[in-house]
Amino acid sequence: MHGIWKTLEDLHAAVAERPILGLFDDPQRFQCFSAETDGLLLDYSKTNLDEDILQHLIALAEESGVPDKRDAMFQGARSNATEGRAVLHTALRSPDTAVLAVGGEDVRPEIKATRDSMERFAEGVRTGTVTAPGGRAFTDVVNIGIGGSDLGPLMAVRALAPYHTGPRCHFVSNVDGAQISDTLDRLNPRTTLFIIASKTFTTVETMTNARTAFRWLEAAVGSEGGGHLAAVSSAPGQTAVFGIPEDRVFSFADWVGGRYSLWGPVGLPIMMAIGAQKFGEFLAGGNQMDQHFRSAPLRKNLPVLMALVGIWHNNVCGYTTRVVLPYDQRLDRLPAYLQQLDMESNGKRVDCNGEPLQRASGPIVWGESGTNGQHAFYQLLHQGTQIIPAEFLIAAESHEPHLKEHHDLLKANCLAQSEALMRGRSLKAARKLTAGADAAVDQDCLARHRTFPGNRPSVTLAYSKLSPFVLGQLIALYEHRVFAEGVIWNINSFDQWGVELGKELAISILPLVQGDPADGKDGSTRGLLAKLAN
Ligand code: F6P
Repeated sequence: MHGIWKTLEDLHAAVAERPILGLFDDPQRFQCFSAETDGLLLDYSKTNLDEDILQHLIALAEESGVPDKRDAMFQGARSNATEGRAVLHTALRSPDTAVLAVGGEDVRPEIKATRDSMERFAEGVRTGTVTAPGGRAFTDVVNIGIGGSDLGPLMAVRALAPYHTGPRCHFVSNVDGAQISDTLDRLNPRTTLFIIASKTFTTVETMTNARTAFRWLEAAVGSEGGGHLAAVSSAPGQTAVFGIPEDRVFSFADWVGGRYSLWGPVGLPIMMAIGAQKFGEFLAGGNQMDQHFRSAPLRKNLPVLMALVGIWHNNVCGYTTRVVLPYDQRLDRLPAYLQQLDMESNGKRVDCNGEPLQRASGPIVWGESGTNGQHAFYQLLHQGTQIIPAEFLIAAESHEPHLKEHHDLLKANCLAQSEALMRGRSLKAARKLTAGADAAVDQDCLARHRTFPGNRPSVTLAYSKLSPFVLGQLIALYEHRVFAEGVIWNINSFDQWGVELGKELAISILPLVQGDPADGKDGSTRGLLAKLAN
């Protein structure tokens, strides 16, 4: 394995200065360095990869065990070893009827039973057969959750706005009372349903927000508050304390990680918004990507190719961040969703054996929807001293055919940006531009300011239209990319021990915020406690 890394580093040294643009002298460049599955295209031709490099990266994936570990994961192996759990969120979107055993038990009947009860409840709310205790239809649904119990459904509900046919959906995640206060201010308690979503049902933020919501309900509807609640959890025993009716508790197994959970009960707000049938299409998109990931040769396998491009940029070229740029406004929460998916999964410092990693693991993931980002941080992408690989997403068609001019401009901007990042502008070309400038200005200096180095890599994901199916494909693609990268680094992408310390400290500092003496704390913490006292 060390040998392949060394070869990749040597290959990089040999091509580091090569202009990506020059690779297009090969008329087949786009065909060879793009791949498609069921309408979703990945173009990675605007990177410095060539066939030799790609073959070595594929060998790296094979030697790291990507195909074997992928198959094991789909078959219910305990891929999350530090928590002793299988990793089977893929089963939630699989129509497969074959027995799928976890710990000797067939889990398919349970998955189906939960989906059926979700559908009955969601469709009941949507059609008005499930009502608030006073008999009025629910007009608003508030999801109270955080992290994986918030970001996925929030992102998907926003992404699928053109398909909304159900109650309005709101999301409260932050323990900052401002969020729940602003949300409740707009709502009528008599027609509001709360979904308390928490895998563990112990997360402080969610429990605090749930108690606040419950008090708000009680003040308006008295003892009927329970009729406005539903819960989603892996710990159904815990939900009873809130008096949530048992038939409104939707549970899922511990083999569904929080950040992978929107395919099951955590996706209830999505189902409420778009209906069970469209939710089924969303699952079908995820499942299509699963089948592709399991069966396509690595050279044409979208999640594997995305992972290999990521490894090349991060570990071989040394680019430490990647920027996600959806030219699709309804995907504006995709970067935040991917931050959890990617950074909570692959932000690790020891390998599966607990040994310190010898190479960088997950890069920093960030982003913003296009074209907004262009007028904010793209300056740094084009002319900053760091190279930041970009990932563009764009649809051929919008949901607003009457606003064709907008979508044409959106596409033009997306394509212009990836081209400009690659092509840049030479000093010579900049000099031509500045030739007629004000004589008082140093023209050569100005030309240097207007020079773009170019040669900045990007990939583009292109699809027909942001439908439930396509969204399912996209999310599953990113999930499997994260998995494949994690396998190459030999890390456990499914635990998240790193979030524990801050949680523990917050609990121990709370009494100090409430007035207890801060003896033993560091000077900064004591100083800040004094400043924040009220
Ligand atoms: O903060 C980390 C985390 O454990 C995430 O992994 C998880 O998605 C989130 O908290 C919320 O957890 P829960 O669904 O148990 O409330």
